Amino acid sequence: MGKHENTIPVSHEIALDAEIIIHSLWFKDVIPWAKQNKGKLANKILIDIVNPFTEDFNDFTLNWGQSAAEELQNVIPDTKVVGAFKNTFFRVFEEPIHNNLKSDVYVTSDNEKAKETVMEFLSSTPFRILDGGKLSNNRTIERLTLFERELAIRYGNYPYVSNHLFGLNV
Ligand SMILES: NC(=O)c1ccc[n+]([C@@H]2O[C@H](COP(=O)([O-])OP(=O)(O)OC[C@H]3O[C@@H](n4cnc5c(N)ncnc54)[C@H](OP(=O)(O)O)[C@@H]3O)[C@@H](O)[C@H]2O)c1
Repeated sequence: MGKHENTIPVSHEIALDAEIIIHSLWFKDVIPWAKQNKGKLANKILIDIVNPFTEDFNDFTLNWGQSAAEELQNVIPDTKVVGAFKNTFFRVFEEPIHNNLKSDVYVTSDNEKAKETVMEFLSSTPFRILDGGKLSNNRTIERLTLFERELAIRYGNYPYVSNHLFGLNV
C-alpha cells in the first residue's frame, strides 16, 4: 500500500463525464484540450487553476489586460469556467493551514450560480474559500502567483507559499 492507497485511478476520458471537472494543464495545453473536448465540456463546470507563465517562470505568456481564465471561457462559451487555487502552490495542498491561518482560495466566475456551486463544493476543504468576483479578476490573481513565487524564493520558503488576507469578516 503506497501513499496513494485511498485514491481511485480515473482516466482522463472518464473524468470528462463528471459535472464538475478540475483540469491541471498548462495554458499552452488547456486551450487546445478545451477546443478538442468542447462538446463534452458543454453545460458543465470547469475549474481552472492555470497561471499563464513562461516555462522558466520568469514572465507571463499573456499581456496585461488578459487572463488565462477569460481566454479559456472564450473558447468554451457553453461551459461554466470557474477560477480557483491559482495562488496555491503544490506544497500548500499538503499543509493548507500555517500558524493557524488558512490558505485563501479566490473563486471567480462570470456565472454566479456556478461560482456558488464551487464555493459550496470546496467548503469542506481546509482552505478559506472566498468569493473572488468575476473572471476578469484573474488578470490580477494570476499575476499575484508569480509575485508570491519570487518572494518565497527570496525569503527561502518556496514552494510553501500562499495568501491569507486578514481583516475580512469571513
Ligand atoms: N504546481 C503548482 O504549484 C501550481 C499552483 C497553482 C496552479 N498551477 C497550475 O497548474 C497547471 C499545471 O501545473 P503543474 O505544475 O502540475 O504542471 P506539470 O507538472 O507540468 O503537469 C502538467 C501535466 O499535464 C499533462 N498534459 C499535458 N497535455 C495534456 C493533455 N492534452 N491531456 C492530458 N494531460 C496533459 C502533462 O503530461 P506530460 O508530462 O505527459 O506531458 C503533465 O503531466 C499549470 O497551469 C499551473 O499554472 C500549478
